[in-house]
Amino acid sequence: MAIASPENFDKEYLRQQVMDTYEHVAKDPDADYHFHRGPIYASEYLGYSLEELETLPRISTARFAGVGNPIAIGPINPGETVLDHACGAGMDILLAARRVGDSGHAIGVDMTQDMRDCARQGAEEAGLSNIVEIRKGMYEELPVEDESVDVVISNGVVNLAPDKLQVFKEITRVLKPGGRLYMADVIVQRELTAEARNNPDIWAACIGGALVEPELYELAESVGLENGVISKRFNCFLNTSAEQKVSKELFAHGVNFSASKRK
Ligand SMILES: C[S@@+](CC[C@H](N)C(=O)[O-])C[C@H]1O[C@@H](n2cnc3c(N)ncnc32)[C@H](O)[C@@H]1O
Repeated sequence: MAIASPENFDKEYLRQQVMDTYEHVAKDPDADYHFHRGPIYASEYLGYSLEELETLPRISTARFAGVGNPIAIGPINPGETVLDHACGAGMDILLAARRVGDSGHAIGVDMTQDMRDCARQGAEEAGLSNIVEIRKGMYEELPVEDESVDVVISNGVVNLAPDKLQVFKEITRVLKPGGRLYMADVIVQRELTAEARNNPDIWAACIGGALVEPELYELAESVGLENGVISKRFNCFLNTSAEQKVSKELFAHGVNFSASKRK
């Protein structure tokens, strides 16, 4: 299987583009972007409970930029360890922290300092600093011990990775045997043209690096994740400029996907 990756632009350049984009979101969440953000979007497009989001600090919810609802995929139990491998401003990791409770651990990793600062402040304001730990790092090389995590959550970030196999290997490495992946990411109906794949702007818009469905299943299986299933779809780009940048026929949309690590 050849998972499409950018060919004629520098991966470091792409990483910088992505970091610049999310630094900007952290500093100015209400500016004009090619994707939706915030708690109203999360509730109206993705099915989060607005009532619950309104109990969380705005510093985290206003900067939410996911494409699905991983928290709704399955149980997150008291006492468990949850990792969000690119947590942004931390909305999902705060929701997870509430579910694991005082006997659990909620770890958020992100490469963008401004996002980590928002996530830490969000945890503090929510009174969850005893449960939430925000770490600097990359999801290609997670600063997390082997087989230490019950649930990996992921929202809108795998599409941004030039090397998706490496990201999936890291998810599997940190999961305990039997541990679960609750992931939301962008899927396209058919493969993008080489031209679209090789356009860093379209990658940074969360579409250039999107997988087609069979690729997602194959990737998960190839690293030892089983029972992969797409359980829900979200029209997360409806009425955004990202939708206008690529053909509507591609039907770029968010999915909830879950899988578990073999015991
Ligand atoms: C689309 S936002 C999603 C953030 C969060 N999951 C949410 O739902 O709001 C993308 C986030 O992924 C982070 N990110 C992108 N590439 C990363 C990488 N290689 N390692 C760690 N974080 C990364 C960015 O810094 C940004 O905070």
